[in-house]
Amino acid sequence: MFNVVLVEPEIPPNTGNVGRLCLAAQSTLHLIKPLGFSLEDRQLKRAGLDYWDEVDMRLWDSFEDLQRAQARDARYFLLTTKTERAYYDVKFSYGDFLVFGRETKGLPENLLATNNHNCITIPMHGTRSLNLATAVGIVLFEAVRQLR
Ligand SMILES: C[S@@+](CC[C@H](N)C(=O)[O-])C[C@H]1O[C@@H](n2cnc3c(N)ncnc32)[C@H](O)[C@@H]1O
Repeated sequence: MFNVVLVEPEIPPNTGNVGRLCLAAQSTLHLIKPLGFSLEDRQLKRAGLDYWDEVDMRLWDSFEDLQRAQARDARYFLLTTKTERAYYDVKFSYGDFLVFGRETKGLPENLLATNNHNCITIPMHGTRSLNLATAVGIVLFEAVRQLR
């Protein structure tokens, strides 16, 4: 249904959890290198439980490589705390790409700047950011809800 992109993820259990979310939402998981772990990592597979092998997962050398391989009209929504536009104000479509940043640094500033019009946020209070897998779950399943 959708495409979830993790840019340079660092923590194996987060990516394992996101893989499981993608499987549950019939969506593809794209990982942008470098990864902070091996794809054979025990914690990654444990967080994805027995399902990891069933996850439709693609690995890319860069975000630009991923974009080059997609249709020109593909839509990318970048998840960041540095915008005011809420994720629930977007009308999602089949095949949309939901792009998330790394755990310690978020998305690169240049990527946010060039996609300024497509940055969205999960409004929140009292913390700097949410856990990566939690953020994916919130936005991915809002997108699924809209299409059902
Ligand atoms: C742990 S957060 C990154 C925190 C990083 N220190 C920062 O300031 O961006 C990892 C990723 O989860 C997503 N995320 C977490 N909380 C979010 C929120 N409230 N709104 C949108 N995205 C969020 C973003 O894609 C972020 O890059």
